[in-house]
Order: sequence, then structure tokens, then C-alpha cells
Amino acid sequence: MSAQKQTTNSQSKSATRASISESSIQPAPSRHTEMPNPEKLILDTQSAPAISERLNIFPFDWRVETPRLMEIYDSSRDPGWSPAKLPWDTLDPESFTLDQRYAIAYWFALLSVFDASGPAVFARAMIHAYETHEEDAIRKCFFSVTRDEMNHEEVCGRAITTLTPNGPLGYEPQTLLGKLARNNIEWLYHNGARYWRGYKKAVETYPMAILFSSFLFGEVASSTLFHSMYERTTIPVFKEAFKNIGRDEGRHLSFCLALLKEVLPKMSEEEKMTVTRQFRAGFIFLSGILYEPPAEFWQLPETFLPAQRLLEEHSRAAGFGILTHEERRENWRTAVVRLKTIVEPHGVKFPALPEIDVDGEDVAFDADKIVPIF
Ligand SMILES: [Fe+2]
Ligand SMILES: [Fe+2]
Repeated sequence: MSAQKQTTNSQSKSATRASISESSIQPAPSRHTEMPNPEKLILDTQSAPAISERLNIFPFDWRVETPRLMEIYDSSRDPGWSPAKLPWDTLDPESFTLDQRYAIAYWFALLSVFDASGPAVFARAMIHAYETHEEDAIRKCFFSVTRDEMNHEEVCGRAITTLTPNGPLGYEPQTLLGKLARNNIEWLYHNGARYWRGYKKAVETYPMAILFSSFLFGEVASSTLFHSMYERTTIPVFKEAFKNIGRDEGRHLSFCLALLKEVLPKMSEEEKMTVTRQFRAGFIFLSGILYEPPAEFWQLPETFLPAQRLLEEHSRAAGFGILTHEERRENWRTAVVRLKTIVEPHGVKFPALPEIDVDGEDVAFDADKIVPIF
């Protein structure tokens, strides 16, 4: 045994003894003169210390309460694509103007607030599912989503660093538009950091049913977004990426729907009201990319939107398929109405979303409790 290993072992032994010394547990003998007798041993056993830590992570069982979740998990074991195998060699930065490069990289930085937060957001949800001893299917479904989100984050990273080496912030923009993009990205990340502070608390506050309804909104948003980006983009590597990411997001949507079909009918009226409030919060946060960032959450300077409009124009001219302002509004509205028709039959009221002309309940907005992401 190496010296380092011995030290670690003796340290952990003394730590164990210190924590249970009052129960006078004797260390096991290390030498035997004969084979131990199980009949004698069983008489000498002592009860192990009770697990007093509420949020412990050991999986005590592998129960499956929602078989459909397990089926979707099985179908997701091989996502069928890898960001590393996309045709990145066809993406030649020299074939774009500097401003077009800044503009496309900017959009991926905006996407990153939602999609590149995914790995940490869903990994956190997975750890929480272990802590609270959710069924195996829920733990595995969060694992699968975390893996997919890692792929989506990789696409953001590859796009940004190919078009703007050392981007999104580690390079010096050479044009005015590039400088505007940089300033916008800094503001976006300021807001992304505020989201994460709130999410860390929210994930421990809400029961799984509420978390899943919030994630549902994120997945409705993302599958809508990537579908439109896939249809409009003419740049081969991005078109291919959006097709695959869109398929992943559709599967995440199926995970959410499979669980909610079981839990929505069992929710209390109070929980249903929480879902309504969470939908309003989700709408405000997700509008940051699906439509326009509402001031109720988004802290942005006056130059933000005009700069973003300019960047969108340059992206479109380069063949990158960002929808126009009006198209985005219609697209977002269609997605939200789709969500409304899913949840309303279960007695969940939908919030009023006057920004896109959707009627519903007037609910308060809590900027500290935003959950959904892609
Ligand atoms: Fe997703
Ligand atoms: Fe994603």
C-alpha cells in the first residue's frame, strides 16, 4: 500500500470512530485464526447509526413509477449525433464580413444564457433528485438531459470560438458593431448570473411536479426556436446542428409531458397556482431569446435592443436564420398557446401574457424564482 493511501485510510478510520464513539463500536479484528462463524456473528451485530442527513444521495431503490419516462430514457441512450462530428470544416470565417462573424457569434452568446446553462442547471436538478430520493426514472431522465445539454453547450462554444477566436469576451472587436455586441454580451451574462442565483434556491424550494412544469415551458420554447432556426438557416453546419438540437429538445419535452400526465391530475389547487406563477416567470425569462426581453426581469441598457436589431440584420444577411421581430412574436405566441392547451384541461390556469396578446390570470412575478432553461 502506498504511503499516501495509508494516510488516507487511517484518517478516514479515525474520522469514522470519532463520529460514532459514543455507541462504543469496536473496530473489526484484522487477523483471523479460523473462519468466522455466521451464527455467532449475527448475535454480535450492532445497529448502524441512523441516517440523520435529510438530503443524502444514496439511491435506496431503483423503483420506476413512470414507465414512460424509462422508455424515453432508453431511446435517448444514443442521441444519434455528436457536435464533434458536425461539418465544422465547412464553416469558413473568411467567407463572412467581420460584422457578420460578430453577429452570428453574438446570437450564440445570447443562446448560451439559456442553452449553455443547461448542463449545470440539469446536473443540479439531477443531484437534487438523488437527494430527495425520486424514482429512478426521474434521476435518469435528468442525467440524459444533462448529457444532451453538454452537447448543445459544445455547439455554442464551437460556433463562438470559430467565428471570434477567444470569444465571447476574450478578443478585441475591430468594428463598432463588434463593440456593441461585446457590450450586449456583458449585459446578457449579468442577467444570466442573476438567473443562476435564483435557480439554485428555486430548485430546492419546489417539488418535482412544479419543477417539471417549469422545465416544460423551457422545452416548448427551445423546440420552437430550433425548429425555426433549422428551417431558415442556410449555413450547412448550423442547419445540421439545429436539426439535432431540436430533436433533443423535443425529447426533453416528451420527458416533461410523460411525468406531468401523471402528476398534474394529483396537484393541489395551491400547487396549480404556483405553476401558473411559474409560467409567467418562465415567459418573462425565455422571452429574452424567443421574443424581446421584458424589463420585469431583464436589466438592460437602452442601447441593448437597437444594437441587437442591427446584429440580427447582419446575421440574416449571412444566411443565419433569425426570425424577424414580428415572426418571433407569432412563433412564440403559437408555442405558448400550445402549452396552454396542454395544461388547461388539468385545471391549471394560464397567466395573462399581454406582451403577446394571451389572456389569462393576472399573477405576481418573482424574479428570484425562475426555473426554466433549455
Ligand atoms: Fe432541453
Ligand atoms: Fe438544450
